[in-house]
Amino acid sequence: MSRRISGFSKLSKAEKLSWLDAYYGESPDYHGAVMKKFWIQDADVQKVLDGFSENTVSNFMIPYGLAPNFLIDGQVYCIPMVIEESSVVAAASSAAKYWMDRGGFKTTILGMVKVGQIHFKWSGPKDFIFNIFEKIKAKLLEGVQDMVRNMEKRGGGITKIELIDFTDLEPELYQIRVHFDTKDSMGANFINSVLENFAASLEYFFVHHVDIPDNYRDIDIIMSILSNNTPECTVRAEVSCKVSELGTFENGMLAEQLAEKFRMAVRIAEIDPFRATTHNKGIYNGIDAVILATGNDFRAVEAAGHAFAARDGQYRSLSKCEIKEGIFRFWLDVPLAIGTVGGLTALHPLAKKSLEILGNPSAEDLMRIVASMGLAQNFAALKSLVTTGIQKGHMKMHMMNILNHLEANEDEVQEALQYFEDKTVSFSAVRDFVDSLKRN
Ligand code: MEV
Repeated sequence: MSRRISGFSKLSKAEKLSWLDAYYGESPDYHGAVMKKFWIQDADVQKVLDGFSENTVSNFMIPYGLAPNFLIDGQVYCIPMVIEESSVVAAASSAAKYWMDRGGFKTTILGMVKVGQIHFKWSGPKDFIFNIFEKIKAKLLEGVQDMVRNMEKRGGGITKIELIDFTDLEPELYQIRVHFDTKDSMGANFINSVLENFAASLEYFFVHHVDIPDNYRDIDIIMSILSNNTPECTVRAEVSCKVSELGTFENGMLAEQLAEKFRMAVRIAEIDPFRATTHNKGIYNGIDAVILATGNDFRAVEAAGHAFAARDGQYRSLSKCEIKEGIFRFWLDVPLAIGTVGGLTALHPLAKKSLEILGNPSAEDLMRIVASMGLAQNFAALKSLVTTGIQKGHMKMHMMNILNHLEANEDEVQEALQYFEDKTVSFSAVRDFVDSLKRN
């Protein structure tokens, strides 16, 4: 069989699966049998899902859970989470409950600026282009009047246009950087459409405008695209209480000891990029789960977060902790360029449902919710790490997965849970134990 196929996208789903079996020399329906288990019976829903991507042959299921008891700015939320890692939803729920009794999460929107860029090359004198830039700007804006009208009606639009000189790093290279307020939409399509229109107007200006001398008319547009670096589209979530109100912890740890160890755990993530990466990964366990559940773009959110974490040149913790005058304070500043209208938010039936469960929030409110989830997740992870370690809780959940995989019956599950209460869980240890039960 030829390894090259043309017209693959034109094949039906069943034909694609038959091709896959043949391609790998398998018997008919070898791959398809598993893939088909995950086809959705409701043809309309399946059609919607297929429409999101290309060459689809199945759906990849990830658990959808709920984390209740999130008190955020005085309002209680039950937060949908889509995640495949055990312990994450349980950790979020327990952190939420813990902080609910201590005033909950408080949030502040620090900015809502989204950014787009047009990169171009031009060989004329630097002063000239900066001097004429106000005229260029006016022409760019003139060209997108119709496009931005709706966004302006919603209170958003283009808020700043600046020319940036990169010629000291790369000869003839400039950038037009545009700031946008896209209100409740993530705004990627809007931003990219405006930028491409700007790029065409920019070219037209240089070719036709009377103020441009003939020897400077050549302009080379390299590309126009939004930036996922959104350091000014950020939100702060924080929790605080008296140290004495933190309670007592596993292994008899006192509130003061917990507070200090916790502060030190955050400090380590501030100064050591190896720890910071894991620390922030824990934050994104929570953030990504809500981002996915609400149909937002988790790659964009992660890219922005990691760039933000490295904004001073070193990769650092996104969260901070201080203990001052007997008050424990823990907070997270995080960029979140997300939307509650447009994109998948209304198209994916579960994304729509998630937003409904959250009370159909504005983009700002969703930022507050997501950041609080990130902070809750970080709190739960650090609290475990500085007290019992994470493996105990983690392995319990992991063990259930292993037992399910081994198809242990209810009695075997109970016996295994009891046996491993004080022992290290590993796949082979659990398998050997279950095998010994089955033999007896
Ligand atoms: C595991 O998915 C996340 C943690 O490693 C985060 C952390 O170490 O802070 C527990």
